[in-house]
Amino acid sequence: MADSNCPKCGGIGFLILERDGVTAATRCSCAQEGRAERVENAAGIPPLYRNSSTENFLLPADNPIARNSLGSVLLQVRAFVREFPLTEKPGLLFVGDPGTGKTHLAVAVLRALIAKGYDGMFYDYQRLLDQIRQGYDKTSESVDREALRNALECEVLLLDDLGAHRVTDWVEDTVTSIITHRCNNRKPTIATTNLPDPDAGGTIQEKAAGSVGGYTSRITLAERVGMRARSRLFEMCKIIKMPAVEDYRIRRKA
Ligand SMILES: Nc1ncnc2c1ncn2[C@@H]1O[C@H](COP(=O)(O)OP(=O)(O)O)[C@@H](O)[C@H]1O
Ligand SMILES: [Mg+2]
Ligand SMILES: [Zn+2]
Repeated sequence: MADSNCPKCGGIGFLILERDGVTAATRCSCAQEGRAERVENAAGIPPLYRNSSTENFLLPADNPIARNSLGSVLLQVRAFVREFPLTEKPGLLFVGDPGTGKTHLAVAVLRALIAKGYDGMFYDYQRLLDQIRQGYDKTSESVDREALRNALECEVLLLDDLGAHRVTDWVEDTVTSIITHRCNNRKPTIATTNLPDPDAGGTIQEKAAGSVGGYTSRITLAERVGMRARSRLFEMCKIIKMPAVEDYRIRRKA
């Protein structure tokens, strides 16, 4: 059955091809039975998030301010999915503290875009870098570059927990080249990060433990991924700042 929202065929389920004056109809990918399910199964989404959607993203009932700001995040996320690929920017960057629902929403977007007919992949940032490095470390001729190729070329890339890795020049160069390539080619990228950034409204100072009135600086996104990757990300992505809500995992237990 064709997808009535399919961006490729407009919902009719097939595409008209023309070559040398001959026209032919071909079945659109949206009409292939089980396509979305197959793409989703191959996308590498961790089990915990397999069902994440905007429908099962709950707003806190007891805190009107948090409810409001999280509600506005949800509206922005839904608008992105609805307008895609004609969104102002091709990607989203979720910035906020752990447990605020960044990965949940990022996966919700990925799954919705897969359902719309696009192909997408989930990559945990640290695991992606490990896989790319293993690809290079291999001495064999057939070096496994699949992870790097996917990160560069897949239609929609979800990069989860950006910057959760110690910094080395190698990491910085690899991340910069992935992000630059995707940015230059306007390839949709969805990312999440716990790291603060002054332009995303993050506090980069925090009270130092045990000292009275002392502050320490938190490590920023730019320090972890490099200035260049960080500025390309901001060019390419609409920034979604997660409000300071209580960690959902704690909230749920209460
Ligand atoms: N508002 C919410 N409604 C429903 N589930 C949520 C919500 N926020 C977070 N969760 C769930 O709580 C867990 C932690 O959220 P997660 O998205 O991993 O947070 P983050 O990526 O910001 O650290 C996940 O299982 C997620 O599905
Ligand atoms: Mg997360
Ligand atoms: Zn179609």
